[in-house]
Amino acid sequence: MLFSARRYFTFLFTLLFSSSVFADSIASYPNGWEDWPVVKESMNLPADTVLPPDASLFMQESVRAYSWINDGQGSPLTIRVNPKKLEEYKTHGPYSDGPTVIAVSEAQGIIWVTEHFGGLALYGSYNRKGEDISSMHSSLEPAFCQSCHDTYKDICINGTCTEPVSSLYE
Ligand code: HEC
Repeated sequence: MLFSARRYFTFLFTLLFSSSVFADSIASYPNGWEDWPVVKESMNLPADTVLPPDASLFMQESVRAYSWINDGQGSPLTIRVNPKKLEEYKTHGPYSDGPTVIAVSEAQGIIWVTEHFGGLALYGSYNRKGEDISSMHSSLEPAFCQSCHDTYKDICINGTCTEPVSSLYE
């Protein structure tokens, strides 16, 4: 009886804090990503970046969403692709199941993961130890990733946004 009461309270506790439960990463942490080929070196732009006046809404939102990174100073961003999925990545899919591509914000070691399952893109955020950090900042929650990656369908195809720099891996 005592045991089940404790379980009941654990359950209640989980419900109370369910908002943080739902914010958990959905994509899994891809062990061994350090050996994945780098397809692009990019940047999280610093907070004081002045974008050209004709910058797309997509660009503006992408810069604004992550202007908090590294205390607003920006960071190098390395994009690595699962070696088994290089061909799929070149054409923005269609993607087979499993972890597809990561973007590593180098300054703080934030690892953005995009995985595919049944053709759907799943998102997650981890630190270099593989710990889920999606609750560290609202912009690291999977729902927020979706709001950009799954919305700008002319740019982000099948959940991947970067124009593949094919020359790097040909
Ligand atoms: C407001 C828009 C926006 C949001 C929100 C966003 N991204 Fe992205 N994402 C981009 C852009 C733009 C790029 C391309 C960056 C580049 O090439 O320099 C990108 C690139 C990536 C890449 C590299 C592969 C690719 O081409 O798509 C991954 C992986 C990724 N994002 C995962 C995530 C995850 C996980 C989240 C949520 C924690 C997230 N993104 C939130 C805009 C966004």
